[in-house]
Amino acid sequence: MSARPPVNDWGTDFDHLDPRWVNDPYPIWEELRDKCPVAHTDRYMGVYFPTRYDDVRAVAYDTEHFSSRRIVVREQPPPRIPAPPITSDPPGHRADKHLLLPAFTPDQIKLHEPRARKICGKLIDRFAGKDGCDAAVDYAQELPVRMIAHMMGLPEEEGELFRKWIYEILVAGITQPALMMRAIEESSAYFNAEIEKRKAAPGDDIISYLVGARIDGQPIEPERLLGTLRLILVAGIDTTWSAIGSCFWHLAQHPEDRRRLVAEPELIPTAVEEFLRAYAPVTMAREVVKATTIGGCPFKEKQMVLLSFPAANRDPAVFPDADRVVIDRTENRHVAFGLGIHRCIGSNLARMEITVALQEWLKRIPEFSLAPGAQVTWSEGTVRGPRKLPVKFG
Ligand code: HEM
Repeated sequence: MSARPPVNDWGTDFDHLDPRWVNDPYPIWEELRDKCPVAHTDRYMGVYFPTRYDDVRAVAYDTEHFSSRRIVVREQPPPRIPAPPITSDPPGHRADKHLLLPAFTPDQIKLHEPRARKICGKLIDRFAGKDGCDAAVDYAQELPVRMIAHMMGLPEEEGELFRKWIYEILVAGITQPALMMRAIEESSAYFNAEIEKRKAAPGDDIISYLVGARIDGQPIEPERLLGTLRLILVAGIDTTWSAIGSCFWHLAQHPEDRRRLVAEPELIPTAVEEFLRAYAPVTMAREVVKATTIGGCPFKEKQMVLLSFPAANRDPAVFPDADRVVIDRTENRHVAFGLGIHRCIGSNLARMEITVALQEWLKRIPEFSLAPGAQVTWSEGTVRGPRKLPVKFG
């Protein structure tokens, strides 16, 4: 990785990969929101960073000036590799998205809940009798990969491989394009083999469904199909893993909240929404395709925008006491799942997984805290969540 000069001014020279931002971005965003609500940097070939809810919303809804054809801020723009619908713009986006919706309806997701509970139970069996575990490595990272693998008809045991691709595409690939390309090639070869298997013998899974799907009477073109499969695999894993990890990070340090959720488990779904608000994991990007002005700030063509749903969720103009986690917050229209046409299709699945992960753990391990001297580490880039989270039980 190339060494980056340190940041002296977050308003005019921010770097979202700076360790201070990676470890604790909230004080930086709060200061920016007051002093320079749309920050800018010349790094990464030019990026804007709106911190106010209204400005994030305005960008997300404005598909005329802001395109999704690039959704990750990288040092060099990579070759365009479509991952529909997340990289699609209108008018094509609609058909790309509608294709996927049937697999993610609330009724479909309900069918997968017993399996999620079983997976959590088995994971907890592995460490419940010990003094502690790594809540990110041993628990949070496992459920999402196993669930989506099952839904796609892929072996659950390949989680390690899928997580490697995600890391290479979304994290290491930001500064090392060759790694990203390798992951794209490897995953394409993997999915091509799976597509051939489904053509010969379709099953009851998302890959079979997409192989059989038709748009205007035509099968999905091979490159689009690969992009969509890669997106489904990538979009649901480190996002949900990060969200689950952040819940445990919070509860390990706030015994009063943890004990309340143990005593009042019916509050867990409300608390999940608050954790999603306060620790929203996903920051997408847009490319400015036509100059415009947002929040009084001119946005120049060809520059990127970091579309921080996490920063919007901490805007005190919309969320009173925004930096405080209030697990019974009733009015909570957070935007962790995005806004506008690209709003997440996996939100029902993610909510179910986070809720089940908390319920099953709290039933078995009601008392836990950060392990003494724990070195918690956070992921950098598009998705934020704890990657090492040692906790002790009791
Ligand atoms: C806590 C977990 C999750 C969070 C916070 C999250 C967040 C988001 C956000 C913010 C977007 C909007 C992207 C944009 O505006 O460019 C999005 C889109 C998307 N998400 Fe999620 N997501 C999560 C879980 C999932 C899961 C489990 C899936 C299942 C496969 C999924 C699939 C997708 C897809 C396919 C899109 C693209 C939708 C479109 O472009 O129309 N996500 N997600």
